[in-house]
Amino acid sequence: MPISINPLRPGFAGEVAGIDCRRPLDPGEVAAIEEGMDRYAVLVFHDQPLSDAQQLAFTRHFGALESYPTPGHIRRPQEQRLGPGIADFSNLDKEGKILSAEDRLWFFKLGDRLWHSDSSFRPIPAKYSLLSGRVIPSWGADTEFADMRAAYDALDPRTKAMVEGLVCEHSLIYSRAAIGFTELTPEEVAAFKPVRQALVRSHPVTGRKSLFLASHAGAILGWTVPEARMFLHELTEHATQREFVYRHQWRVGDLVMWDNRQTMHRGRRFAQGEVRDVRRTTLAGDAPTVVEAA
Ligand SMILES: [Fe+2]
Repeated sequence: MPISINPLRPGFAGEVAGIDCRRPLDPGEVAAIEEGMDRYAVLVFHDQPLSDAQQLAFTRHFGALESYPTPGHIRRPQEQRLGPGIADFSNLDKEGKILSAEDRLWFFKLGDRLWHSDSSFRPIPAKYSLLSGRVIPSWGADTEFADMRAAYDALDPRTKAMVEGLVCEHSLIYSRAAIGFTELTPEEVAAFKPVRQALVRSHPVTGRKSLFLASHAGAILGWTVPEARMFLHELTEHATQREFVYRHQWRVGDLVMWDNRQTMHRGRRFAQGEVRDVRRTTLAGDAPTVVEAA
């Protein structure tokens, strides 16, 4: 059966059929998925019970894995539950126990419930993220995606002219401060040094423009902080209106793949006492969004 993609919303998010993500893909299948990503920005694959090795192999069809040293202060190497290349987005510790609500690691995870684009706080932000649902809580824990191309297109002309050429500073410090988590160690503050990102990006294949926003964005170059924060807040409100959002309700075995260059996403609340085991692989972006003056 050839791969087919059924749109979940007009022009945004597609459901893929006719693929077994555990098997190697042929070049035609890779091209079909890449075209689907360029068009829909989010793809959903149901009934894909992947092992970590299979998830890694599937991911590598689409490029190189993002590899930054894991900030050890967030989860030290000896506290890692999963192997290299697989990011642990569960609420579990190394022994498989649910994290305490007072655990700093949990505070970091809670920040992912704010709208963001993965790794926008890194010099070269991520291309695709792939999240595999292994254990899903009985309620909540949806992931919402916002179409930042549609959000850009819908800006009024005055705002569209304003955002052009603006450069933001992104850092985990800003997104964690937004939930009142400010007790960072000096090592963390140094590791989370803000990076510059363009506020408007153009997709390298389709040329479509999108707003590149995230709760990690906390400053705009040349602007006062209050003015910048207010403007970013307003843009985020605009971009996350229901008409631009696809809400994914997880089933065990779902694999969801999204393009961080064209979307924002956020996790939603679930019962702290229930296990959520979701695992992410991430593809590296190609280049910085801002070309620094020599
Ligand atoms: Fe994320």
